[in-house]
Amino acid sequence: MSEADDRIFLKRFSLVLAGLAVFAIVIIFLAMAIHGTLDREESTAREAAREQRLMPVAGVYAGETGRAAAMAAREDAAGSTEVEAAFDGSLDGSLIYDRACASCHEVGAAGAPEMVASAWADRIDKGKEQLVSNAINGIGAMPPRGGRRDLTDEQIEASVSHMLGMVE
Ligand code: HEC
Repeated sequence: MSEADDRIFLKRFSLVLAGLAVFAIVIIFLAMAIHGTLDREESTAREAAREQRLMPVAGVYAGETGRAAAMAAREDAAGSTEVEAAFDGSLDGSLIYDRACASCHEVGAAGAPEMVASAWADRIDKGKEQLVSNAINGIGAMPPRGGRRDLTDEQIEASVSHMLGMVE
């Protein structure tokens, strides 16, 4: 290769480099121009969506719970008894008693019979079936299902059985 060839190559090569540099600058300005035309409002919406995603887990959970409560209330208003069974439909009488009945029956709140044999002797005489039915429909100061209308008949029966087991 001659020196003349080298010079020609260098000349063309620097032309290509200069062309690329100009191209890069054009691209940069083009990008800045496009960025300037971006819809600001859309970025606000995106910001809100991001905030929603970053909400604490408990916050999202409270929202779900609120939704479930609102739905239950709506079903109440419609006169429907179809509410999701409490405690995942558990028939563990001890669990149901602890969470739905103990608040009154453990301490005798509202005049509820405490879980001692003497308080239950007369009631046991009514027979378990009657006790279950009274617990379902409410009796005296005790609201139907102890105020937990999401408990099924079977769950009430399971918790009454558990209660009778405590005092018999
Ligand atoms: C708000 C307080 C309260 C809660 C909660 C509650 N009870 Fe009672 N319960 C009472 C009271 C008060 C009585 C006594 C009513 C009476 O004889 O006048 C009672 C009585 C009973 C009796 C006896 C009924 C009878 O015929 O003598 C049973 C059985 C019973 N409750 C079961 C339950 C079960 C099961 C739960 C939970 C699902 C529960 N209770 C939750 C207040 C409560």
